[in-house]
Amino acid sequence: MRKFIVAGNWKMNTTPKSGKQLVKDVLKKTKPENVKVIFGPPFTHLLQTQKQLKGHKGFFAAAQNMHQEDRGAYTGEISVEMLEDIGAKFVIIGHSERRLYFKETNALLLAKTKKAILHNRKVIFCCGEPLAVREKGTHFQYVMRQLSATIFKLSPEEFKQVIIAYEPIWAIGTGRTASPEQAQDMHFAIRAAIKKKMNEDLASGTSILYGGSVKPSNALEIFKQPDVDGGLVGGASLHADDFVAIIEAAKKTDRGR
Ligand code: PGA
Repeated sequence: MRKFIVAGNWKMNTTPKSGKQLVKDVLKKTKPENVKVIFGPPFTHLLQTQKQLKGHKGFFAAAQNMHQEDRGAYTGEISVEMLEDIGAKFVIIGHSERRLYFKETNALLLAKTKKAILHNRKVIFCCGEPLAVREKGTHFQYVMRQLSATIFKLSPEEFKQVIIAYEPIWAIGTGRTASPEQAQDMHFAIRAAIKKKMNEDLASGTSILYGGSVKPSNALEIFKQPDVDGGLVGGASLHADDFVAIIEAAKKTDRGR
């Protein structure tokens, strides 16, 4: 049975102090119940977040990135062993901002994903098309190409550790959300592709999250779609009340996952 997940991607926002308060406020206001809730703070406060979540069932912390090598002369980078040591179970890989601003290629993202999985981390792997591609109508092919060049190259055993986040770039931070139907259509296509490239069990067992301007006002409609298994939330995850409202929306879908 696949898990329903609400993950917050804080990006380069919050300080250790404000991040601590944000986690505290969310913990005070909700319990995840049938949903997994993940916080994605910057590295400076990932360990602190991890400690805050101790004893709080259903809450987890995610890194926003990691390096593909084990260790060495890579100034400014964070290794998977470091994540392992602090107990961060999840890592976001392939976010469109990493692809765009840090020139991360499919080959690099595959290397990072393999390394994370080798160390038993769960990967939230992002994909999604830019606006021009959506307008041309080739978004399905575009996303399938992204997946074929990356996570579809994993073995089925490795693929078990993958959560997919479909994030159309035109919807990220723009206030413009994909319609529930647009999200469902892509999620359905991704699930069908998993079945073809991997197997039926992985197709039905893989959580596929939607990301891109998820907020309290649209979360429930998106989460109700049968192939949407939660959300990767940017801006709205920085406000405890909004993030809690999104978690509550996820709980309401009551898919028992
Ligand atoms: P947004 O970001 O919710 O602010 O659109 C989503 C993301 O980039 O993961």
